[in-house]
Amino acid sequence: MKRVLVTGGTGTLGREVVNCLREAGYIARIMSRRAGMLEGGE
Ligand SMILES: NC(=O)c1ccc[n+]([C@@H]2O[C@H](COP(=O)([O-])OP(=O)(O)OC[C@H]3O[C@@H](n4cnc5c(N)ncnc54)[C@H](OP(=O)(O)O)[C@@H]3O)[C@@H](O)[C@H]2O)c1
Repeated sequence: MKRVLVTGGTGTLGREVVNCLREAGYIARIMSRRAGMLEGGE
């Protein structure tokens, strides 16, 4: 399974990108300055 790192993944657009990637079978990890925004994600 392919892994991707998404910057801006906590934002309005980034969240949609992360959802699309995960639905497409990617392991999508998010880089954020705010750890609290990553609850429930990877
Ligand atoms: N929403 C729209 O309709 C729309 C339309 C056209 C263009 N855009 C452009 O698309 C981009 C994203 O829009 P958005 O609405 O998704 O924005 P947003 O909801 O404000 O999200 C911004 C994202 O960028 C990250 N970020 C901000 N400053 C950063 C920095 N200095 N270093 C690393 N990460 C940083 C934030 O991550 P943290 O978790 O670290 O805060 C957050 O995930 C913006 O450039 C915006 O101008 C948006």
